[in-house]
Amino acid sequence: MRQIIVAGNWKMNASKETVNALIMGILEGMPDVKSEVIVCVPYPYLSQVEALATHSQLHLGAQDLNINTSGAFTGEVSADMIKDFGAEYVVVGHSERRSLYGESDEIVAEKVQVALDSGLTPLFCIGESLGERESNNTQSVVARQMNAVIDRVGIEAFKGIIIAYEPVWAIGTGVTATPQQAQETHAFIRGLLAENDADIAQSTPILYGGSMNPANAEELIACADIDGGLIGGASLKSDDFLHICKAG
Ligand code: PGA
Repeated sequence: MRQIIVAGNWKMNASKETVNALIMGILEGMPDVKSEVIVCVPYPYLSQVEALATHSQLHLGAQDLNINTSGAFTGEVSADMIKDFGAEYVVVGHSERRSLYGESDEIVAEKVQVALDSGLTPLFCIGESLGERESNNTQSVVARQMNAVIDRVGIEAFKGIIIAYEPVWAIGTGVTATPQQAQETHAFIRGLLAENDADIAQSTPILYGGSMNPANAEELIACADIDGGLIGGASLKSDDFLHICKAG
């Protein structure tokens, strides 16, 4: 049995005040949660969440990293800096990074490698756009995104990677993939891993992301190949997030 993992992706939403309330609310509900829970927060709040979540079961992550270790890269943040604040996870290749900041499959693959090298667990995101789904290219897009990373880091490295399948048309839109649509693609992704290594295919967590909420989480997470969720909007309210955390 794979452990259910629920990760919040706050994106660019936070203030010192809201972070306090949100983390305290999540921590209150944590004793009843069996899933592994991660919050991926904007860089300036890593320290605050690290302090609030000390000695709790709540894990900390960042939302991106730079491929360099240090130096003249104004505005950028390295893997070691993220680790310095107690983070264990980092989102890599989110569709917003790919589409708004031009991150190619190759850059994403390099970031996955850099995260692994530093001891961070990448939450590696893949997923097709609406146009790609409508033209029946979901599987070829997902395979291209997966193979870029498998080719770069090798299949063994997936022992330390969490995959997040996030259909771009479902992110922040309120339109969730049906459990059937999601399960079909999750099974396809697990099949891609199995072509390389059957054991790793069975052990790798594959999370669903895209308008997951308290109303649909249980049905999605009940699917055979869906091992939890990467949650955007619904991770900003402690009650909603906890509800999803308890769905597994
Ligand atoms: P959403 O975002 O839950 O708001 O759709 C998910 C994500 O982008 O990770």
